[in-house]
Amino acid sequence: MDMADQTPRGKAAESRCDPRAHTYDVQEILPEEYGLFLSHLLRLDARTREDRFGMAASDQFLRQYVETTRAVGTLVLVSIEAGQVRASAELRPVPDPDAAEATVCVEPAWRGRGIATRLMSQIVDEAKSRGVRRLYVRCLATNAAMRSLAAKFTPHLVLDATDVTGRIDAVRWRVRHPLHALVRRVLVGARAALSARA
Ligand SMILES: CC(C)(COP(=O)(O)OP(=O)(O)OC[C@H]1O[C@@H](n2cnc3c(N)ncnc32)[C@H](O)[C@@H]1OP(=O)(O)O)[C@@H](O)C(=O)NCCC(=O)NCCS
Repeated sequence: MDMADQTPRGKAAESRCDPRAHTYDVQEILPEEYGLFLSHLLRLDARTREDRFGMAASDQFLRQYVETTRAVGTLVLVSIEAGQVRASAELRPVPDPDAAEATVCVEPAWRGRGIATRLMSQIVDEAKSRGVRRLYVRCLATNAAMRSLAAKFTPHLVLDATDVTGRIDAVRWRVRHPLHALVRRVLVGARAALSARA
């Protein structure tokens, strides 16, 4: 049975399934949507699983992961399109009560539309409202997309042999004007052009 049809938000989303009218709304997962969350993770290809989890992740691992995520009360945000979770982000507790870990995942066909940026913005806001001061994001050093996303939220990115860890100051972080991204892109381009000429 397709779980997509079972949830209230799934039904509502299907009824407004107009590809030109995507809103990429981000919402906290409802208890009945964990099946959709699992289906989203199970759809991920091997490369995406490795990028998301930092290692190969079997279907069995993903099933256990969703169970644990639910059991420990991790905050899960989802973006639901046409009754399916297409992107997710998590605010995961760590032993330090002032800190937390953020993760994000967007299915390949849904990337490059700002969904991860929206999810991360909301995760930082949620962290701040829960009194989390430091938010960590971690990805493989080879993960250019995540490095780029992380750089939108923090200049504090540390590279070790295999991973990059970003530390986001959740207290100070604020949503930037959209022009900020444009200015940043122009500056990065100008810097690349200058170093190419040198
Ligand atoms: C990383 C990921 C979440 C980005 O999702 P997305 O929805 O495409 O991201 P956005 O559209 O919000 O783009 C975020 C920024 O990354 C940049 N970006 C996206 N893909 C990129 C790529 N392949 N290379 C370099 N930069 C990239 C975008 O240009 C954007 O920056 P901008 O706003 O200055 O233009 C997505 O690629 C993904 O789910 N990867 C697999 C899971 C993963 O790696 N998770 C991280 C570990 S938890």
